[in-house]
Amino acid sequence: MKLSTKHLLGIKDLNREDIQLILSTAQQFKDVLQRPVKKVPSLRDVTIVNLFYENSTRTRMSFELAERRLSADVLNFTASSSSSAKGETLLDTVNNILSMKVDMVVMRHSASGAPHFLAKHIPAAIVNAGDGINEHPTQALLDAFSMQEKLGKLEGKRIAIIGDIMHSRVALSNMYLLRKMGAEVMVAGPPTLIPKYISEALGVQVEYNLKKALQWCDVANVLRIQLERQNQPLFSSLREYNLAYGIKRKLLESLGKDIVIMHPGPINRGVELDSDVADGPYSIILNQVENGVAVRMAVLYLLMDRENG
Ligand code: CP
Repeated sequence: MKLSTKHLLGIKDLNREDIQLILSTAQQFKDVLQRPVKKVPSLRDVTIVNLFYENSTRTRMSFELAERRLSADVLNFTASSSSSAKGETLLDTVNNILSMKVDMVVMRHSASGAPHFLAKHIPAAIVNAGDGINEHPTQALLDAFSMQEKLGKLEGKRIAIIGDIMHSRVALSNMYLLRKMGAEVMVAGPPTLIPKYISEALGVQVEYNLKKALQWCDVANVLRIQLERQNQPLFSSLREYNLAYGIKRKLLESLGKDIVIMHPGPINRGVELDSDVADGPYSIILNQVENGVAVRMAVLYLLMDRENG
């Protein structure tokens, strides 16, 4: 089987079979990563550039490790230490990199649509590693992989995405993916952080009461409050946010049921998630990070497999 798309720009463009193919291939790579020799020759002679115009810890390291585990040649580009800081355009930068015979571009950018723009102008396969407030497709894929690993198939599972839905590319990619895979999705948080008409547009439920959302769901995927993306304050203080929407151990214990807590990172400890939850028995946050490498190996491998016909 092959992917239906040349690029991975967003979950919006994938069909259910694409998602299943990526998740099952990721399981094979996860098995490889348990072995003493973790490297496979699948992308030998393939050159990949990681083009990061915005800060990242997990995604960048995870992509680089995935590329090296697949035996690809890896180039790393950081905007702040490049000629972009002298005014070079994105297209000029990428065309210069491509003239060095690069096969694939992994890109993070603060502008929504930046990887889509590149895909229209260059021949290399593009992987979106997060564009503005649009999508973060590999995060949603690794989240889905981690949920499946913990709970089995996604169909019929109840997933609550909690927090700053308005500014979150992770939320949008998760909503697309989970709905395509037949899960029930709820978004929860303060009304000011949940877009109007999201229910009609994306087929999700909306809940403003944290405890009701937690009582409803099997999994709570808790999001970071993205203060850097808020032009004006959307709640009165971080303390007030924590009191109303912060996930606390006592609250989880009071539910009297199993629940899985996820977070894409980086965590604002003591704001959306207390430390004894982030580091406690309900949390699979570090499993998500571990699974990210296998999922990104699958994405890179499948895109290159498609390129090679
Ligand atoms: N989850 C995530 O995208 O983290 P980074 O910003 O550290 O890559």
